[in-house]
Amino acid sequence: MDNKAKLLREANFGLGLLKILLAAFLMIIPAIFLWTQFNKEWPKEKEIKPRVYTPKVNLSVAPSINRLSRDPNKEQLFYGQELIRNTAYYIGFNGTKKQITNGLNCQNCHLDAGQKPWGNNYLGVASSYPQIRKRSNKMTDVYGRINGCLSRSLNGQTLDSTDTEMKAMAAYINWLGQDIPKGYKAKGAKVYPIEFLDRAASPENGKRVYETKCMVCHQQNGEGILSENKRSYTYPPLWGKHSYNDGAGLYRLSKFAGYAKMNMPFGVTHENPQLSDEEAWDLAAYVNSMPRPEKDKSNDWPNLADKPIDHPFGPYADPFSEEQHKYGPYKPIKEWYENQNIR
Ligand code: HEC
Ligand code: HEC
Repeated sequence: MDNKAKLLREANFGLGLLKILLAAFLMIIPAIFLWTQFNKEWPKEKEIKPRVYTPKVNLSVAPSINRLSRDPNKEQLFYGQELIRNTAYYIGFNGTKKQITNGLNCQNCHLDAGQKPWGNNYLGVASSYPQIRKRSNKMTDVYGRINGCLSRSLNGQTLDSTDTEMKAMAAYINWLGQDIPKGYKAKGAKVYPIEFLDRAASPENGKRVYETKCMVCHQQNGEGILSENKRSYTYPPLWGKHSYNDGAGLYRLSKFAGYAKMNMPFGVTHENPQLSDEEAWDLAAYVNSMPRPEKDKSNDWPNLADKPIDHPFGPYADPFSEEQHKYGPYKPIKEWYENQNIR
């Protein structure tokens, strides 16, 4: 009897021990799992945020046309949009309202009426103007910025902020940016910031690419094709007397290359670009080595250290030549400024 009880007690004890071991074992699995999770290296915050300049993620989109039709100010807004699309018809060299510009349309460079992602769109204007622009060192509102393009990209005359056409264009441009909170940047607005090459851009290579990929529309002489009504262009000029002048944004190689990469040949989008970065830079070098109207730039960039690296007119705060500032290589210039700590 005694022996039996003893055996039973021992068996019970063994069973208890087994249960404890089993329970401990079962707890080890989730414990190990949790331990690995807590000790895992999570990507740093910076890495998981969508990068502003990645062409494919979360680009800002323009408000819908339905909202435009419902707007109490729709007449002025539609007129503004029409002016952006068919600028030359109204205010070109043969314009029906006034004759003050070279025949380009705003839309030639601000595609889809200023709405196309990475098509130099206007979505960031309302949230970022008025602003002090470094080119003039002056407070600039949306009218002033439009006048910048009128006098440079359209090589023409400026308009007063009380002018009917000016008011309509500004109203439409501001309307496009209504969803971007003040002080924020729109994603995919303006020109795509293309990366610098390691070498200088080559006009000779650019000429070859131009002949195969651009010439059919923009023509061998670069002067485009005038439309039948002789007021505007079916294919706009890239150089010559009706093109943008040498004080315009596209005269900087980075702007031309970034624009062309995402939008040309006509029909490509940021989702299916056709030009390599090298082709885009070389095209920029070729087109911007051809003749075009000149602008008085003596008051531009009053603070020399603010001049963009690819601004092709001296004097500079750095020791590099105009030639290198125009065609590159830009990386040594960039590094020079980083070492000086003056920007
Ligand atoms: C030949 C090309 C060209 C034409 C034509 C042109 N622009 Fe521009 N525009 C540019 C470039 C380049 C920029 C600078 C984009 C950048 O900095 O990335 C610009 C910038 C602007 C901006 C500021 C955008 C921003 O978010 O800061 C406004 C506003 C503007 N243009 C209005 C107009 C209007 C209105 C017209 C027609 C009257 C016009 N542009 C015609 C090339 C052009
Ligand atoms: C199929 C015809 C076509 C081809 C090919 C083409 N473009 Fe264009 N390009 C256009 C049209 C049309 C516009 C004006 C877009 C608009 O108004 O919506 C334009 C506008 C431009 C502009 C801005 C306006 C100006 O006159 O300064 C530049 C710069 C430009 N193209 C460069 C190029 C380059 C570089 C290539 C070659 C890679 C090229 N294009 C190939 C049709 C073409």
